[in-house]
Amino acid sequence: MGKKRVAVLISGRGSNMTALIEAARAEDYPAEIALVVSNRPEAAGLSRAREAGVATAIVDHRSFGEDREAFERALDAELRAQRIDLVCLAGFMRLLTPWFVTRWSGRMLNIHPALLPQFKGLDTHRRALEAGVKEHGATVHFVVPEMDAGPIVAQDSVAVREDDTEATLAARVLEVEHRIYPQALRALAEGRASLASSSNENVPREGSA
Ligand code: GRF
Repeated sequence: MGKKRVAVLISGRGSNMTALIEAARAEDYPAEIALVVSNRPEAAGLSRAREAGVATAIVDHRSFGEDREAFERALDAELRAQRIDLVCLAGFMRLLTPWFVTRWSGRMLNIHPALLPQFKGLDTHRRALEAGVKEHGATVHFVVPEMDAGPIVAQDSVAVREDDTEATLAARVLEVEHRIYPQALRALAEGRASLASSSNENVPREGSA
């Protein structure tokens, strides 16, 4: 069977995108990063993708005004034009409508910088420090219509230190992200992770990292 064709959707610097591109260079990796799409023309990750020889596209949400579904139809058209099989959200800062999520159901992953189901949403590192948790981390999960709520494909933790700041904690969590996202994409591409066999919640699956 050929490699799965993957699109990575970004809005910013794209360090997770880079981790996926690098992992996918391995001959035995079951997926290739065929396309990087950004909703922001100025995203730093776009030039990193081009330097790595990956095709890029910009679908600027601002050109669609309030019409979320028109934006998503344009995004979907890019993915179909490139015969994309799987989608990885990697710092993609747009909420997706149920229309798009349903279209890519079971074929779309997201990375979240927290141990879901803890700390859904933004500012996870600040909130983890404020809450005084001893463990923090990152999670790769299937995308479902409810934000940050899909079944977990991979998750790993770091110990929170007394002297941690948002920046030091974020840096350690980012290392975890770069390790588990390629693992999770591999599991999906090899058919070892599927939404069909998961409940519709953040429940760690067998084989989670
Ligand atoms: C990561 O922390 C990711 O978990 C979150 O946004 C950040 C994106 O970073 N969703 P990068 O663009 O991959 O460097």
